[in-house]
Amino acid sequence: MPKWLDTAVFYEIYPQSYYDTNDDGIGDLPGIIAKLDYLQSLGINALWINPCFDSPFQDAGYDVRDYYRIAPRYGTNDDARRLFEAAHARGIRVLLDLVPGHTSIEHPWFQASARHRRNEYSDWFIWTDSGWTWDAPGLRLINGYAERDGSYITNFFYCQPALNYGFANPDPRYPWQQPVDAPGPQRVRQELRNIMKFWLDLGCDGFRIDMAASLVKTDPAWTETIRLWQEVRLWLDRDYPEAALVSEWSHPPSATKAGFHMDFLLHFGSAAYSSLFRKPYDGSAGTDKYGFSFFDRSGHGNIMEFLDGYLPQYSETQGKGLICLITGNHDITPRLAVGRGADDLELCFLFLLTMPGAPFIYYGDEIGMRTLDSLTPKEGGLSRTGSRTPMQWEPGPKAGFSSAEPDQFYLPVDSDPDRPNVATQLVDPQSLLQRVRALIALRHAHPALQSSGTFEVVYAEAGRLPFVYKRQGDGETILVVLNPREQSCEVRLEASLAQSLEVLYGQSDAFTREGGTWHLQLPGVSGGVYCVR
Ligand code: NOJ
Repeated sequence: MPKWLDTAVFYEIYPQSYYDTNDDGIGDLPGIIAKLDYLQSLGINALWINPCFDSPFQDAGYDVRDYYRIAPRYGTNDDARRLFEAAHARGIRVLLDLVPGHTSIEHPWFQASARHRRNEYSDWFIWTDSGWTWDAPGLRLINGYAERDGSYITNFFYCQPALNYGFANPDPRYPWQQPVDAPGPQRVRQELRNIMKFWLDLGCDGFRIDMAASLVKTDPAWTETIRLWQEVRLWLDRDYPEAALVSEWSHPPSATKAGFHMDFLLHFGSAAYSSLFRKPYDGSAGTDKYGFSFFDRSGHGNIMEFLDGYLPQYSETQGKGLICLITGNHDITPRLAVGRGADDLELCFLFLLTMPGAPFIYYGDEIGMRTLDSLTPKEGGLSRTGSRTPMQWEPGPKAGFSSAEPDQFYLPVDSDPDRPNVATQLVDPQSLLQRVRALIALRHAHPALQSSGTFEVVYAEAGRLPFVYKRQGDGETILVVLNPREQSCEVRLEASLAQSLEVLYGQSDAFTREGGTWHLQLPGVSGGVYCVR
């Protein structure tokens, strides 16, 4: 694993909405370069930039038309190179977002494969042998698109045809299902490497891999998909040992087996994002739109919902790869800040920034940006659109995002006069931004808190608070305590926990020694980090 992942604190940038330097109302790569000093001062040392390749933007760039070209609205390949150089000069690594599972319907490879006459791209996508095939088990078909007498398999939206990596278990009843070693799938696999090589040679530091588990079809245990990625990893280890891969898989044991250095815990599955930060409505009394997640003032959340899923995955992946927790991302709505104040958010960050694995902060979450409701969906964003609005750099109608007129902006800025912004929070020592900065600095100062430090639960009970855990690394032991509930909480812990506890962050008087035990008492919505002596 590249050494730099040990200390990585990632930040996800949705480039359209970050910072616009050419006044067209859309963020761009020079805009990211212009904000590197800000990111560096926050303590960020790694970026993930959502797809910035040429695209018709029917799914915000997750529909690539040319993998080898930066979308003109974001700049040029030369701007990308400059971005990598400028980031590296500040100790910041840059991951690009690679979409290997599908292209745009406008991609010339797909256009060629859609032709009636056989050509070199005919087998680059998955086509049935008749335009009248209406269904195929486990696959989604689009009919009647092409001159070719076939229906194509889509990977996501209709406009995202699946590239052909073959089938793990081709069904003999469907001769169009090619095995993974057929010439078409093998060519596509080679092209995937060519694309990665191209951007790595230009200076990027790796990739976030979109829908990483989706490549080989009819592969229920991901056997062939895992084998495919293992080959990629072998090649990277040999030729680009510093390059990092993070997968959108949301099953870290499989992803790390496949060779990914990191995998996200996302909102699919109860053990993940949802149980911590935003559960869907589950009918519980006292809830309406959402269920009770752990970080909820009501105190009705249950940390065991997270731990029961997390702990087995943590022990299975320890020493093999990292489980990455996120504040949110461009697919998650509403943002973390909705329904939470600065104190609640601070606790969420305190947790994220003291857990193992590399943390990922979604742009704007560091200031508590909200999700805008009722926006007209943009570029296939649908309900996700409201979490993709322009970064709020300053007060005022343009939010410091762009000099274009606001009606030209990619998406409207939050019109709330009290909306959070970077400039105001930079000069307020109590702001969320300053607290996040302090927590990142704390993580950087203590190897035990970083990616590979060990994690052990000290106190966690279903429906009880606080939640207490221990991190260890580099000869240091650190204790983290959390109480997201509005009311105070207390617990007695064994005296053997520590000789003494030195506060590093948060509540300084939470622990008192009483005879043979430690008495931990935390006020409502509070937490702390302590060095164990
Ligand atoms: C996952 C991405 O995060 C999402 O934004 C996109 O729409 C789909 N994959 C399809 O590529």
